[in-house]
Amino acid sequence: MIATNTIAEEILDLKRQKRAILLAHLYQEPEIQELADVTGDSLELARKAQTFDGDVIAFCGVWFMAETAKILNPSRIVIVPDKDAGCSLVDSCPADQVRATKRRFPDHTVVSYINTSAAVKAESDIICTSRNAVAIVNSIPAEKPILFLPDINLGNFVKKETGRENMRIWQGACIVHATFAARKLQAARTEHPSALVASHPECPPEVLRMSDFIGSTSAIIDWCVTHEADEFIVMTESGVAHSLHKRAPHKRFHFVPNENCNCSECPYMKRNTLEKLRDALRTLEPRVELPAELMERARLPIERMLAVK
Ligand code: 13P
Ligand code: SF4
Repeated sequence: MIATNTIAEEILDLKRQKRAILLAHLYQEPEIQELADVTGDSLELARKAQTFDGDVIAFCGVWFMAETAKILNPSRIVIVPDKDAGCSLVDSCPADQVRATKRRFPDHTVVSYINTSAAVKAESDIICTSRNAVAIVNSIPAEKPILFLPDINLGNFVKKETGRENMRIWQGACIVHATFAARKLQAARTEHPSALVASHPECPPEVLRMSDFIGSTSAIIDWCVTHEADEFIVMTESGVAHSLHKRAPHKRFHFVPNENCNCSECPYMKRNTLEKLRDALRTLEPRVELPAELMERARLPIERMLAVK
């Protein structure tokens, strides 16, 4: 009988052959997270990509995250299992509209969320993630007006936390977090009265007001795992359930479905599968390719962010 490898074994073999690292965002399917060398939020994965000294970065996340990896470590091959793993925030913020807005407000410091295209990063003064957005805005002199791109909910959260009045905020939104309804969260709280609420800052302000903790994907996981409470309502993409159950098997976690569907999954993140990852490692495609000049301009605001925290 001919021995057949499982897809997971093939991936591990290919990873060794190609001198690849597998970076997986915490919203990826459990079977992908289990094979990853590193799982994390967008900031942790960017830092890991920056210092990797092998040949191939297999990025299981969405395209803007892989672009960031390429910009920070341009001599590596960066692949993504599915080239259509996009992001509604990226789509909400085209670079030509950003350039036009900058012409209207030339004195504004442009702070862009990492969920933007490389072309928008190249137009930015500094990048932030959900983990460090408050610290990044606080690092900018108080008298400087800010243009914050592109997430309206994260922007309003940062504005409130920093007490910053002079912040102009783009009108983009995440199709997953922006469609969490306070009404459904309230129903979950009634059903689970002892549960604490942990939310991602891309959620609407009325959801954030009902939250006990607000933070990035891995900050939410760390908070729930280390908190003395044992029951939580988690207002982010349900992929984090894998880490939560693994790290705190005795605790209970509840997820609230989005307004438009009965799940809280990001359709872009979920485009990546084990089969597509195996094929990408075989062919080294789809591959992130960006013009050198664009990468150079986009790198500076990312490096400014990494220097802050
Ligand atoms: P994190 O930076 O918290 O990983 O968030 C990325 C993201 O896309 C959230 O929807
Ligand atoms: Fe983009 Fe929202 Fe998906 Fe995160 S969850 S990748 S912000 S669409």
